[in-house]
Amino acid sequence: MKYLKVPRKQGEKIRRELIHAGLFDANYPILSEGGFVLFPVSGSFGGFETVGREAEKRPIHHEKLEDALSGILSPAELESLIGSFDLIGDIAIIEIPDALEPREKEIGGALLSVHKNLRTVLRKLSPMEGEFRVRRVKCIAGEDRTTALYKESGVVMELDVAKVYFSVRLSHERTRIASLVRPGERILALFAGVGPFPLVIAKTHKDAEIVAIELNPDAVAAMEKNIVRNKAKNVKAVLGDARREVLAHYPGWADRVLMPLPKGAHDFLDAAFAGAKDGGIVHFYTFAGMKSPFEEAIAKAEYAAKASGVKVEAASQRIVRPYSPQTVQVVLDLIVRKNVT
Ligand SMILES: C[S@@+](CC[C@H](N)C(=O)[O-])C[C@H]1O[C@@H](n2cnc3c(N)ncnc32)[C@H](O)[C@@H]1O
Repeated sequence: MKYLKVPRKQGEKIRRELIHAGLFDANYPILSEGGFVLFPVSGSFGGFETVGREAEKRPIHHEKLEDALSGILSPAELESLIGSFDLIGDIAIIEIPDALEPREKEIGGALLSVHKNLRTVLRKLSPMEGEFRVRRVKCIAGEDRTTALYKESGVVMELDVAKVYFSVRLSHERTRIASLVRPGERILALFAGVGPFPLVIAKTHKDAEIVAIELNPDAVAAMEKNIVRNKAKNVKAVLGDARREVLAHYPGWADRVLMPLPKGAHDFLDAAFAGAKDGGIVHFYTFAGMKSPFEEAIAKAEYAAKASGVKVEAASQRIVRPYSPQTVQVVLDLIVRKNVT
């Protein structure tokens, strides 16, 4: 392991500078030799000798970010630090409270130093917002870029987190949906983003026919590349509005319709019902209050079903993830009955 040999007197100052520069490798222990302290580093640092030493890798702990920042942030600052972050490929996206804004570079540098495979740390500047559900971010450490390669269920996706929506937290939901698909299904993947739902399904269902509709041109461009990258010949990316495309080209076409737009999918239930065959399934995602999430979601679905002249039956319901202290994201798997009297 590479170590930077620093006179003990300068130890604390140099440790902070190494973290700030993203050079401190917290996977290894700090060593002590005579009047020197040896810091594990990933590169050289001007003015000090770099030496090789045997050292055992430390186990990975979430607390390591706090460890690396102890002595840099005050106890009160450490208290307000949010230790969790999203990891998309080699990019970490972290929330930093306003009070810690002056320390964002140190926090980013510390995160880089404790997670070896990270190359970039982005700070969240907003929640997911606008029609395309994109958040503003800024680079606080590492390579200044927003494009990542992300792997999930054997699928590799390229995406620009500053231009498109993406959530790693839906990976379980994507495998759940893929496990429900039967041979030869026709699937309408509405609100498809860069294609995670269609591509994860296509990976194990080569005979499915999947139409993926998305409004954000950057997401569709990325999805087209991802289709080629994953040789998913059975996925067709369509740039356009979900309602308009379904009503114009796919009425009564689909065995399964996916609606992963929790903020607003209820406004598109008419189109989803129109796109489904009699007996087809609509996966309806929505946000709902903690108290009675399923009742709320079912009420929305039934209201829309009545207006569309169809009947729906919830074959299954589940909480996908917590969204805010009062709200959860739920999914209903709705069987659509047409020709009802
Ligand atoms: C919550 S994201 C889900 C993206 C993707 N399915 C995923 O899981 O990563 C919702 C997506 O719907 C897209 N969208 C919003 N309104 C739309 C519309 N009217 N028609 C088609 N896509 C739309 C947004 O651009 C966004 O990419």
